Amino acid sequence: MSKKMVVINASPRRGWNTDMLVDEAARGAASQGAEIQKFDLYRLDKFTGCISCFGCKREGHKGECICRDGLKPVLDAIRESDGLIVGAPNYFGDLCAEFKLFYERLLFQYLTYRTDKASCNDRIIPVLLIMTSNAPDTLYTDMLSVYKTNFERFIGPTTVFVSGETMQVNDYGKFDWTMFDGEARKARRETVFPKELESVRRLGSEMVGQ
Ligand SMILES: Cc1cc2nc3c(=O)[nH]c(=O)nc-3n(C[C@H](O)[C@H](O)[C@H](O)COP(=O)(O)O)c2cc1C
Repeated sequence: MSKKMVVINASPRRGWNTDMLVDEAARGAASQGAEIQKFDLYRLDKFTGCISCFGCKREGHKGECICRDGLKPVLDAIRESDGLIVGAPNYFGDLCAEFKLFYERLLFQYLTYRTDKASCNDRIIPVLLIMTSNAPDTLYTDMLSVYKTNFERFIGPTTVFVSGETMQVNDYGKFDWTMFDGEARKARRETVFPKELESVRRLGSEMVGQ
Protein backbone atom coordinates (compact mmCIF):
# COMPACT_ATOMS: atom_id res chain seq x y z
CA MET A 1 0.00 0.00 0.00
CA SER A 2 1.34 3.45 -0.85
CA LYS A 3 2.53 5.77 1.91
CA LYS A 4 0.44 8.84 2.64
CA MET A 5 2.10 12.22 2.99
CA VAL A 6 0.36 15.27 4.33
CA VAL A 7 1.78 18.44 2.82
CA ILE A 8 1.02 21.85 4.27
CA ASN A 9 1.68 25.30 2.88
CA ALA A 10 1.49 27.73 5.79
CA SER A 11 2.25 30.78 3.63
CA PRO A 12 -0.59 33.01 2.47
CA ARG A 13 1.12 33.32 -0.92
CA ARG A 14 0.39 30.44 -3.25
CA GLY A 15 3.16 29.74 -5.73
CA TRP A 16 5.76 31.74 -3.83
CA ASN A 17 8.90 30.65 -2.00
CA THR A 18 7.41 28.52 0.78
CA ASP A 19 4.77 26.94 -1.42
CA MET A 20 7.33 26.12 -4.13
CA LEU A 21 9.60 24.37 -1.63
CA VAL A 22 6.72 22.46 -0.09
CA ASP A 23 5.52 21.36 -3.54
CA GLU A 24 9.00 20.22 -4.54
CA ALA A 25 9.36 18.17 -1.35
CA ALA A 26 5.96 16.67 -2.13
CA ARG A 27 7.15 15.84 -5.65
CA GLY A 28 10.11 14.02 -4.13
CA ALA A 29 7.79 11.98 -1.93
CA ALA A 30 5.45 11.30 -4.85
CA SER A 31 8.41 10.08 -6.93
CA GLN A 32 8.77 7.27 -4.39
CA GLY A 33 5.11 6.31 -4.76
CA ALA A 34 3.67 8.35 -1.89
CA GLU A 35 0.13 9.62 -2.06
CA ILE A 36 0.01 13.37 -1.41
CA GLN A 37 -2.70 15.26 0.41
CA LYS A 38 -2.03 19.00 0.40
CA PHE A 39 -3.56 21.75 2.50
CA ASP A 40 -3.16 25.53 2.25
CA LEU A 41 -3.65 26.79 5.79
CA TYR A 42 -4.72 30.26 4.64
CA ARG A 43 -7.46 28.78 2.47
CA LEU A 44 -9.09 26.52 5.00
CA ASP A 45 -12.38 27.37 6.66
CA LYS A 46 -11.84 29.50 9.74
CA PHE A 47 -9.85 27.88 12.52
CA THR A 48 -8.25 28.86 15.79
CA GLY A 49 -5.24 27.79 17.80
CA CYS A 50 -5.70 25.61 20.86
CA ILE A 51 -8.57 26.98 22.98
CA SER A 52 -7.47 25.06 26.07
CA CYS A 53 -10.75 23.13 26.41
CA PHE A 54 -8.92 19.92 27.43
CA GLY A 55 -11.35 17.84 25.37
CA CYS A 56 -8.31 15.93 24.09
CA LYS A 57 -7.44 14.90 27.65
CA ARG A 58 -10.82 13.29 28.45
CA GLU A 59 -11.79 9.62 28.18
CA GLY A 60 -13.08 8.79 24.72
CA HIS A 61 -11.13 11.59 23.02
CA LYS A 62 -7.64 11.22 24.41
CA GLY A 63 -5.15 12.36 21.79
CA GLU A 64 -7.84 13.85 19.57
CA CYS A 65 -8.57 17.55 19.23
CA ILE A 66 -12.36 17.87 19.49
CA CYS A 67 -12.65 21.33 17.85
CA ARG A 68 -14.68 20.96 14.68
CA ASP A 69 -13.38 23.80 12.56
CA GLY A 70 -11.36 24.24 9.38
CA LEU A 71 -8.30 22.54 10.85
CA LYS A 72 -10.06 19.29 11.79
CA PRO A 73 -9.59 17.65 8.34
CA VAL A 74 -5.86 18.48 8.49
CA LEU A 75 -5.40 16.95 11.93
CA ASP A 76 -7.42 13.88 10.90
CA ALA A 77 -5.31 13.44 7.75
CA ILE A 78 -2.06 13.66 9.75
CA ARG A 79 -3.38 11.05 12.19
CA GLU A 80 -3.55 8.56 9.31
CA SER A 81 -0.44 9.67 7.44
CA ASP A 82 3.09 8.31 7.12
CA GLY A 83 4.84 11.68 6.95
CA LEU A 84 4.33 15.40 7.31
CA ILE A 85 5.85 18.10 5.12
CA VAL A 86 5.11 21.62 6.34
CA GLY A 87 6.49 24.96 5.25
CA ALA A 88 6.05 28.41 6.78
CA PRO A 89 7.51 31.86 6.23
CA ASN A 90 9.23 33.69 9.04
CA TYR A 91 7.16 36.60 10.29
CA PHE A 92 8.80 38.83 12.88
CA GLY A 93 11.42 36.34 13.96
CA ASP A 94 9.05 33.39 14.36
CA LEU A 95 7.05 31.07 12.14
CA CYS A 96 3.92 32.82 10.88
CA ALA A 97 0.66 33.00 12.82
CA GLU A 98 -1.39 30.43 10.87
CA PHE A 99 1.44 27.95 11.28
CA LYS A 100 1.40 28.51 15.03
CA LEU A 101 -2.36 27.93 15.26
CA PHE A 102 -1.82 24.62 13.47
CA TYR A 103 1.20 23.71 15.60
CA GLU A 104 -0.58 24.31 18.89
CA ARG A 105 -3.54 22.18 17.87
CA LEU A 106 -1.44 19.37 16.39
CA LEU A 107 0.89 18.93 19.36
CA PHE A 108 -1.30 19.75 22.35
CA GLN A 109 -3.77 16.97 21.60
CA TYR A 110 -1.01 14.43 22.25
CA LEU A 111 0.40 15.99 25.43
CA THR A 112 -0.58 13.86 28.44
CA TYR A 113 0.91 15.88 31.32
CA ARG A 114 2.08 12.54 32.68
CA THR A 115 5.57 11.90 33.96
CA ASP A 116 5.69 8.31 32.66
CA LYS A 117 4.73 9.09 29.03
CA ALA A 118 4.53 12.70 27.88
CA SER A 119 2.90 11.94 24.51
CA CYS A 120 0.02 9.59 23.71
CA ASN A 121 0.78 9.63 19.99
CA ASP A 122 1.87 6.14 19.01
CA ARG A 123 2.00 6.84 15.30
CA ILE A 124 5.51 8.20 14.90
CA ILE A 125 6.02 9.74 11.46
CA PRO A 126 8.89 11.74 9.91
CA VAL A 127 8.49 15.51 9.64
CA LEU A 128 10.10 17.95 7.23
CA LEU A 129 9.79 21.51 8.49
CA ILE A 130 10.69 24.18 5.93
CA MET A 131 11.11 27.85 6.79
CA THR A 132 11.71 30.73 4.38
CA SER A 133 12.98 34.14 5.44
CA ASN A 134 14.48 37.41 4.34
CA ALA A 135 17.32 36.84 6.77
CA PRO A 136 20.23 34.53 5.99
CA ASP A 137 19.76 30.80 6.64
CA THR A 138 21.41 30.68 10.05
CA LEU A 139 19.80 33.63 11.86
CA TYR A 140 16.90 31.63 13.30
CA THR A 141 18.66 28.38 14.20
CA ASP A 142 17.85 28.64 17.94
CA MET A 143 14.19 29.45 17.36
CA LEU A 144 13.85 26.53 14.95
CA SER A 145 15.54 24.11 17.33
CA VAL A 146 12.60 24.55 19.73
CA TYR A 147 10.16 23.56 16.98
CA LYS A 148 12.35 20.59 16.09
CA THR A 149 12.43 19.41 19.71
CA ASN A 150 8.67 19.69 20.09
CA PHE A 151 7.88 18.00 16.78
CA GLU A 152 10.20 15.18 17.81
CA ARG A 153 8.50 14.82 21.20
CA PHE A 154 5.02 14.55 19.74
CA ILE A 155 5.15 13.63 16.05
CA GLY A 156 8.46 12.08 14.98
CA PRO A 157 12.01 12.57 13.69
CA THR A 158 12.19 16.08 12.27
CA THR A 159 14.39 17.61 9.61
CA VAL A 160 14.50 21.40 9.44
CA PHE A 161 15.28 23.08 6.14
CA VAL A 162 15.80 26.84 5.80
CA SER A 163 15.70 28.93 2.66
CA GLY A 164 16.96 32.39 3.57
CA GLU A 165 17.34 35.62 1.61
CA THR A 166 14.33 34.76 -0.52
CA MET A 167 13.03 36.92 -3.33
CA GLN A 168 10.10 38.61 -1.59
CA VAL A 169 8.74 40.45 -4.63
CA ASN A 170 9.33 40.13 -8.36
CA ASP A 171 10.30 43.75 -8.85
CA TYR A 172 12.16 45.45 -6.02
CA GLY A 173 12.29 48.56 -8.22
CA LYS A 174 8.63 49.22 -7.40
CA PHE A 175 9.44 49.75 -3.72
CA ASP A 176 11.76 52.03 -1.79
CA TRP A 177 13.16 49.15 0.30
CA THR A 178 16.73 50.28 0.84
CA MET A 179 17.38 47.30 3.12
CA PHE A 180 17.49 44.91 0.16
CA ASP A 181 19.61 44.54 -2.93
CA GLY A 182 16.96 43.49 -5.46
CA GLU A 183 19.52 42.37 -8.03
CA ALA A 184 21.28 40.15 -5.49
CA ARG A 185 17.94 38.61 -4.49
CA LYS A 186 17.11 37.91 -8.11
CA ALA A 187 20.53 36.37 -8.69
CA ARG A 188 20.09 34.21 -5.62
CA ARG A 189 16.68 33.07 -6.85
CA GLU A 190 18.30 31.95 -10.10
CA THR A 191 21.36 30.25 -8.64
CA VAL A 192 20.81 29.17 -5.01
CA PHE A 193 17.05 28.63 -4.91
CA PRO A 194 17.06 25.88 -7.60
CA LYS A 195 19.60 23.98 -5.48
CA GLU A 196 17.35 24.37 -2.45
CA LEU A 197 14.47 22.96 -4.47
CA GLU A 198 16.67 19.98 -5.32
CA SER A 199 17.55 19.51 -1.65
CA VAL A 200 13.96 19.50 -0.43
CA ARG A 201 12.99 17.18 -3.25
CA ARG A 202 15.61 14.73 -2.03
CA LEU A 203 14.48 15.15 1.58
CA GLY A 204 10.89 14.52 0.52
CA SER A 205 11.83 11.35 -1.33
CA GLU A 206 13.93 10.10 1.59
CA MET A 207 10.99 10.50 3.97
CA VAL A 208 9.04 7.81 2.17
CA GLY A 209 11.55 5.11 3.09
CA GLN A 210 11.61 6.11 6.79
C1 LIG B 1 4.44 40.14 8.03
C2 LIG B 1 5.83 39.75 7.60
C3 LIG B 1 6.85 39.70 8.53
C4 LIG B 1 8.12 39.28 8.16
N1 LIG B 1 9.09 39.19 9.11
C5 LIG B 1 10.31 38.67 8.77
C6 LIG B 1 11.32 38.54 9.77
O1 LIG B 1 11.16 38.90 10.94
N2 LIG B 1 12.50 37.99 9.40
C7 LIG B 1 12.74 37.59 8.12
O2 LIG B 1 13.82 37.09 7.87
N3 LIG B 1 11.81 37.72 7.16
C8 LIG B 1 10.60 38.24 7.46
N4 LIG B 1 9.62 38.37 6.49
C9 LIG B 1 9.94 37.94 5.09
C10 LIG B 1 9.41 36.55 4.76
O3 LIG B 1 9.69 35.61 5.78
C11 LIG B 1 10.02 36.04 3.47
O4 LIG B 1 9.84 36.97 2.44
C12 LIG B 1 9.43 34.71 3.07
O5 LIG B 1 10.26 34.04 2.17
C13 LIG B 1 8.04 34.85 2.47
O6 LIG B 1 7.54 33.60 2.12
P1 LIG B 1 6.60 33.43 0.83
O7 LIG B 1 7.38 33.90 -0.35
O8 LIG B 1 6.29 31.98 0.79
O9 LIG B 1 5.39 34.27 1.09
C14 LIG B 1 8.37 38.88 6.81
C15 LIG B 1 7.33 38.99 5.86
C16 LIG B 1 6.08 39.44 6.25
C17 LIG B 1 4.98 39.56 5.20
